Amino acid sequence: MINEYVEIANYYDNLLTSGYFNYDSLSNILYNLLGPRRKVLDIGVGTGLLTEKMLSLANYNIVGVDFSPRMLEIAKKRLANSGVKLICEDIIEFESKEKFEAIVSTGGVICILEEDGEYRICSHITDLEKNKQLLTKLHSQLDEGGLLALGIQGGHTNYKKEIKDKIFYEQKIKKEGNYLDKWYVFSQANGEIKSEQFCRFYVFDGRQTNKVLTDAGFQEGYKIIDDKFLVSYK
Ligand SMILES: C[S@@+](CC[C@H](N)C(=O)[O-])C[C@H]1O[C@@H](n2cnc3c(N)ncnc32)[C@H](O)[C@@H]1O
Repeated sequence: MINEYVEIANYYDNLLTSGYFNYDSLSNILYNLLGPRRKVLDIGVGTGLLTEKMLSLANYNIVGVDFSPRMLEIAKKRLANSGVKLICEDIIEFESKEKFEAIVSTGGVICILEEDGEYRICSHITDLEKNKQLLTKLHSQLDEGGLLALGIQGGHTNYKKEIKDKIFYEQKIKKEGNYLDKWYVFSQANGEIKSEQFCRFYVFDGRQTNKVLTDAGFQEGYKIIDDKFLVSYK
């Protein structure tokens, strides 16, 4: 299914820990950014790679939402006995009575692309109105003084490289209007495909990114932290 990380879950950690993201660095940046904030919602928590590192730094109270049962299965094993609450649900449907001091996403439901000198929201939600509603809801789920921290990535390109365990990772990118299509392929040296997945993202340009965040209620003017997170405050 589109954008549901089921097919590639078995290879996901191999790719992500082969240099795709540096979770030690990302969790340290968040630790400094969050200060005394402890109640955290991770949107698109995946296999819990960030959560595990965050918990090694402080006693966070983390709720992780993801709609891929397969990714959450891996997260459950990784985070066993950690007290993290993992919820298998589409973020569009997710409602919470409790509020959070921070909402984070590293390549999760929403990330930021740094391209052409702009910071652009890149969302797994492919519908404009649903993205607006989601950001408004996330704003309402934050405590006063809460923040939304979205991980920043470089622009997506086509490439193929060897990752761990003699597996090759290839990504193919196609851009059309606000849509970015990404094809992930994991194969062996002999070319046999082990797993593949198609994802479609909705990308806001720099101006739209600013506007959609302020329209959702976030303070005017986001902050860029260490070029790794775009941070919007309630
Ligand atoms: C690229 S992975 C990132 C996972 C994790 N944040 C990390 O740092 O490894 C994107 C995750 O977002 C989840 N996701 C995408 N759209 C979603 C939605 N509408 N609701 C909940 N989870 C979603 C996928 O299932 C996947 O696990």
